[in-house]
Amino acid sequence: MNLKNLLIENKKSTALLTINRAEKLNALNHETLLELQTSFLQFQKDSSIKVIIITGSGEKAFVAGADIDEINKLDKQKGREFAGFGQSVFNLIENLGKPVIAAVNGFALGGGCELVLACHIRYASVNAKFGQPEVKLGIIPGYGGTQRLSRLINSGRAAELILSGDIVSAEEAYRIGLVNKIFSAEELLERSFELADKISSFGQIAVRKALECIKMTGQLSLAEGLKFEAQEFAECCDTQDFIEGTSAFLQKRKPNFKNS
Ligand code: COA
Repeated sequence: MNLKNLLIENKKSTALLTINRAEKLNALNHETLLELQTSFLQFQKDSSIKVIIITGSGEKAFVAGADIDEINKLDKQKGREFAGFGQSVFNLIENLGKPVIAAVNGFALGGGCELVLACHIRYASVNAKFGQPEVKLGIIPGYGGTQRLSRLINSGRAAELILSGDIVSAEEAYRIGLVNKIFSAEELLERSFELADKISSFGQIAVRKALECIKMTGQLSLAEGLKFEAQEFAECCDTQDFIEGTSAFLQKRKPNFKNS
């Protein structure tokens, strides 16, 4: 892939994707979103990649938002297309079928915070900062922020963040449930890779099915969700990984999953 705004580095079964426009605090312009789309479609197809970690280049920002130079030129029709395209890329990430870890190393504002929300697991460095400052620009979050933030944290806190435009610290983001864990800047990637390696060591059919079930919580009633879970559980019982995982436990040895 010939990428201008992203760096991709594969380590074992994990792809590290770095958004690389540090001079613009990694703001997401259209070209960067297109490259994200291309890269994630590639990750989805590539069976050697089991987990993806996203981070930002430089010490200051994860992603400081959608590119305001581009936003400034929108009208009603272009605004609809702008939000629709960003949402489609973030939906691709959320529905990838493989775990995506956000390693938030600085500002995650606007579209950057929405990108974090589309990931499955959120780790942050102590200097990370989060916010949905769109109201300050006369707009609202358009890449899923109003929907995903209100589903992830409680709706009162989501309303406060979105309506105040306030930027909050990593500690506050942790307190309100926006991030899973906080690490020092030096540790952030190392810990993200540790988690990625752990997930990669498991049978990937079970990993994918767990992600699918978790995703369904936003779409199904509890009764429907439980039915869906039971169906997916049953399908796991029909895999070689299930035989291997349970047998290895009983035989007190490490499992050797073949993802089949
Ligand atoms: N879109 C386009 N450019 C952006 C950007 C964005 N979302 N965020 C930062 N930049 C650019 C700045 O314009 C500046 O470019 P320049 O050097 O060519 O002037 C460069 O990145 C560095 O940013 P700067 O504002 O000088 O850094 P700072 O440390 O003073 O402030 C922020 C950091 C994050 C507080 C500030 O950049 C900011 O408020 N950014 C916009 C955040 C936002 O509203 N995001 C939501 C967009 S919908």
